[in-house]
Amino acid sequence: MDAKHIRSTFLQFFESKKHRIVPSAPIVNKNDPTLLFTNSGMNQFKDFFLGNKKTEFTRIADTQKCLRVSGKHNDLEEVGIDTYHHTMFEMLGNWSFGDYFKQEAIHWAWELLTEEYKLPKDRLYVTVFEGDAKENLQPDEEAFQFWRAYVPEDRILYGNKKDNFWEMGDTGPCGPCSEIHVDLRPQEEIDKVPGQELVNNDHPQVIEIWNLVFMQFNRKADGSLESLPETHIDTGMGFERLVRAIQNKTSNYDTDVFQPMIRQVSTDSGIAYGTAEKTDIAMRVMVDHIRAIAFAVADGQLPSNTGAGYVIRRILRRAVRYAFTFLNLKEPYLYKLVPVLGSEMGDFFPELLQQQDFIMRVIQEEEASFLRTLDIGLRRLNELISSGARAVSGAEAFELYDTFGFPLDLTALIARERGLTVDEAGFATEMEKQKQRSKQAASSETGDWITVHPSKTPTEFVGYTELSTKANILRYRQVKEKNKTRFQLVLNRTPFYAESGGQIGDTGYITDGQERVRIVDTKKENDLIVHYVEHLPKNLEATFDALVDTDKRYQTQNNHTATHLLHAALRRVLGEHVQQRGSLVNEKGLRFDFSHFAKMTDEELQKVEDLVNERVRQNIALQAETDVPLAEARDRGAMALFGEKYGDTVRVITFDPAYSVELCGGTHVPATGQIGLFKIISESSVSAGVRRIEAITARTAEAWVRQQQLQLEELRQLLKNPKDLTGAVQSLMEERQRLQKNVEEMQQEKASGMRNELAQAATDINGMQVIIQQVEVPNAEVLRNLAYELRQKFDRLFLVLAADIEGKPQVAVMFSDALVQERSLNAGNVVRELAKEIKGGGGGQAFFATAGGKDISGLPAVVDKARALAQQV
Ligand code: ALA
Repeated sequence: MDAKHIRSTFLQFFESKKHRIVPSAPIVNKNDPTLLFTNSGMNQFKDFFLGNKKTEFTRIADTQKCLRVSGKHNDLEEVGIDTYHHTMFEMLGNWSFGDYFKQEAIHWAWELLTEEYKLPKDRLYVTVFEGDAKENLQPDEEAFQFWRAYVPEDRILYGNKKDNFWEMGDTGPCGPCSEIHVDLRPQEEIDKVPGQELVNNDHPQVIEIWNLVFMQFNRKADGSLESLPETHIDTGMGFERLVRAIQNKTSNYDTDVFQPMIRQVSTDSGIAYGTAEKTDIAMRVMVDHIRAIAFAVADGQLPSNTGAGYVIRRILRRAVRYAFTFLNLKEPYLYKLVPVLGSEMGDFFPELLQQQDFIMRVIQEEEASFLRTLDIGLRRLNELISSGARAVSGAEAFELYDTFGFPLDLTALIARERGLTVDEAGFATEMEKQKQRSKQAASSETGDWITVHPSKTPTEFVGYTELSTKANILRYRQVKEKNKTRFQLVLNRTPFYAESGGQIGDTGYITDGQERVRIVDTKKENDLIVHYVEHLPKNLEATFDALVDTDKRYQTQNNHTATHLLHAALRRVLGEHVQQRGSLVNEKGLRFDFSHFAKMTDEELQKVEDLVNERVRQNIALQAETDVPLAEARDRGAMALFGEKYGDTVRVITFDPAYSVELCGGTHVPATGQIGLFKIISESSVSAGVRRIEAITARTAEAWVRQQQLQLEELRQLLKNPKDLTGAVQSLMEERQRLQKNVEEMQQEKASGMRNELAQAATDINGMQVIIQQVEVPNAEVLRNLAYELRQKFDRLFLVLAADIEGKPQVAVMFSDALVQERSLNAGNVVRELAKEIKGGGGGQAFFATAGGKDISGLPAVVDKARALAQQV
């Protein structure tokens, strides 16, 4: 069975058990501040478990793109070294939300593995939770009994909390779990050491493939467990491991999930896989990491300096470093694996194919820039080495790491090759210091929700049509930050739009008639609308009026609708390859990032602006539809975003069905005329293949235009109201150029006069032609030219010029080569001696040197000292 077949068999199996098959959620998490990336299949269903949201389907199955590289589940350092951990992996899962529980989950898992996939029964082991006294949890006898129907008792093992109690993060839904392990060793080994002893013992051939979690609890912020209102099933099976078990390989990388890419790397690097440990590790790292990077970019996460983007950047750098060091790939290379990946996974994950060019460009650019960094780092190391250092200090190694992204092991490797040591302990200390610094900067503690009015239904959002409403507080919680404590509120009904889809959250206030409490921001947490306040209302149980800041909201809406009009205009003017890559909409303006590979011309920008303003003048009415089936919306050509999670039904925003149709949850103007005026104020590059337009609308655009006009008016007045302003400025510039030329010519003339005078002043002292004079010159270049010209005229020249350059002292010393050789004169030494008189310093070569200084009054003393010197030669 090939990988594709194994995947589809899983989904079909659960479909036949009445599960609804859903697509994978994006790998990048947008609306959950506790998690940067999806790290398990259940993330997207968190609210169903907690009871925050009702499900339409109580049985679901899917394959989920996961990334375990930060937070509670982090495998990064293992990846590539071993043969069964990954950064990005697919998790096959089936779920029950208050539907079936342990018995069916166990039964179906066994049926699928042994009857469909035909894994040998005697190679499978299962584990169940042994209980935990501290948490007051009993052993899971129930699961044990259900397993006994299929598995002999000696292959059912009890496991501790670490292995058999699953938690998504520090807080959230959790419960005991039952894992299925497979023993893939040859029979002789099994005869020697029974599999029981190796389960959960990091043996590379005895590995966990499936985890069945019996969700029963919610872990609260204070560490305690509370029971969930209903019990659920959450299972996760590692797709890559399953494929390996079914294909009976000793490594995940030997399956058809990775082999096509490994073959490509082998061909391109000229090194066969399986030749040496080091090069094998490098290849595994590369083919693993490229998947994480490509999927993250496809889901909208570009490499960057912070947050999720930084995690992606680090993964990419780890791969480049292995390729660079062990496979001698010194040019951008990883991006070339994207098409290979696309042809393997693209039919199930079409985002890889649809965005292939874009993904490749982003990766190539990022590789190129890191390779440049590596180069700078290498040069730094070389400098250190040539300065005679014997060791790289902790601080230096840390600077290389922190500023140049130069990982410690690479520094150590290169240093070792050159016979240097690296103070690794010193590095660790620096690292720790930095961690402390950033911890202090970022720490905040979020308390548990405290219920005011219990409610089963989620918040009703009325903000598409109303900007004020009556509301009650359902619950609140405290957030302790470094310097202050803030609070968050959830209301039963709200007009406040929570930040999402690029549109900022509303501000405003709630009032019970006695007291006003400002809402300083509104954000989403999964599907929860969370209002941020500086302090709690005194009477939490009151009924409040909740009012949005209307002017700010109206301005923001102008900008949001303008963003849609802009998006459509860009696709018309530049082409259908234009895709939204990022967007920020607030009351001040809009920022729109989109895929496009060249700088936009002035003409294109004008066309886009004109097209948008035309649509504004047409005063097109908003058509907002909710609950449109996703497939229908797509058929109508609605623009969806990659990396966005859409439900089965979506909200569709249309401004003229033939012009702009988008899936969007944001708020918009009732008709486009309200935008008044649309003005692009900048177009720039964000990263490889991504451009950014900043624009303004309405009052802001008017004010901007007026400002431009005022500036022009000022210019006109300064130039005494010329008929043709541009012409006037041009002729001013021409005149300036002419004058500049005149000045230069005059300076030349003056200099040649000076040269002649100086030449005439040459006197013979001790067989030398000595010129020592104080002069006034316009700049250092003229001084230098004078010295060089005089050198042409004499063959035993001893020249010292003490110059006043626009009020600054400078000294130039020039000797003919003959004097340098015969009398060991050195202009550098002489100039340094003379420069003492003007409180300065300098240097140069033996025949010519210059010095600058601070004290102009010292010039006569320079002349005297030089004369005395000339006498002594
Ligand atoms: N959520 C469980 C896991 O990730 C299935 O292992």
